[in-house]
Amino acid sequence: MPISVVGLDIGSTAVRGVELSAAKKNKPNLLRFHEVKLPPGSVSRGEVIDSDAVGSALKQLWSEGHFKTKNVVLGTGNQHVLVRDLTVPKMPIREIRESLPFHVQNLLQMTLEDSILDFYPVSEGVGDHGPTVNGLLVAAEKEAILGTIRVAERAGLTPVEVDLIPFALNRLLMSRSTVDGAVAIIDVGGSTTSMIIANEGVPHFVRIIPAGGDDLTQALKSGLEINTGATEELKRTLRVGADLASGEEFGPITSQCSCPKCLADVATADDPRATEILQRVTGELLAGLRNTVNYFNNTHPEHPVMQILLTGGGARLSGFATALRAMTQIPVTAANSLSMVTLSRKNGERNRMENTESLSVAMGLAMRNLS
Ligand SMILES: Nc1ncnc2c1ncn2[C@@H]1O[C@H](COP(=O)(O)OP(=O)(O)OP(=O)(O)O)[C@@H](O)[C@H]1O
Ligand SMILES: [Mg+2]
Repeated sequence: MPISVVGLDIGSTAVRGVELSAAKKNKPNLLRFHEVKLPPGSVSRGEVIDSDAVGSALKQLWSEGHFKTKNVVLGTGNQHVLVRDLTVPKMPIREIRESLPFHVQNLLQMTLEDSILDFYPVSEGVGDHGPTVNGLLVAAEKEAILGTIRVAERAGLTPVEVDLIPFALNRLLMSRSTVDGAVAIIDVGGSTTSMIIANEGVPHFVRIIPAGGDDLTQALKSGLEINTGATEELKRTLRVGADLASGEEFGPITSQCSCPKCLADVATADDPRATEILQRVTGELLAGLRNTVNYFNNTHPEHPVMQILLTGGGARLSGFATALRAMTQIPVTAANSLSMVTLSRKNGERNRMENTESLSVAMGLAMRNLS
């Protein structure tokens, strides 16, 4: 029996588990995966809000997913996470970690007591005063991490590691990148959107913003006075215009589906209020992503972003990728997570879930404990 671990993604719309075992050739084996939807509001902006609801979803995930281990790698990430380039004199990693509080003064949005600090060495160099280590300083909110660990433990699981969600995506998607230059991985979730920029697989920049596809759902719901189910269906008929390069203009909204159910919703899809809401909410998110890429390119002119990889349910909004490409002038590709693992065909796993791309985070988390 191969030693395996489950990457566990506690997202705002669902909990997802992916069980991987170590690579036989060079890709890890995907043994099993499963997803259980969460009631709206039980997880928001990277934090567990209703631990009872999440706890029962985790128990259901294990009973339905038939995972063969309770060892889990958890993900964390909210807008308080701070990741910065940091160069320190070369010394043992323990001493570097002890020195971190001195480097974060005035940088943190939270107090030192409320944060967990870490350092990821990236490369070595030589400074004016001798050898140096270049790396990333990471500061994360203690309570958000502890909340996630507690809910997993209460569901009978054994957390073996906790990792930043953007690092998990980088591990999964950048392990085989052949792009010459930096790559930005953007995960548009329900209530958070993260960006990690890596050059030759080495992360240089991370930002997590408290925005995602659910903001559009909420804005449409209250603006058009329709229920959540109808709003989710409406979102799938909307299309973001591509003409964004020169300004904030959005093209017209069109219905893409002509089934009777969707046609019944066309009245709202053609509603000019829906156009205005789509333009405002999605335009704000897209402009924020473009500005972040521009900021990175201005501060790292030696390796500007040459490709954007998109993942997460919020990025499935029709026209989103095209609009992002028009705004940034950078090629945008949908991340293909399944190509990063070996899939056991005899388990029929490929057919068991509709949107396997939503497993990227859980896959990347599981890979942390295999490497
Ligand atoms: N086809 C689609 N068109 C438009 N939006 C979609 C589509 N499919 C999913 N979404 C949206 O994607 C969002 C959920 O994405 P995802 O499953 O990646 O989030 P999550 O991982 O649960 O949340 P988070 O990462 O914020 O914690 C929801 O807002 C949902 O409405
Ligand atoms: Mg997510």
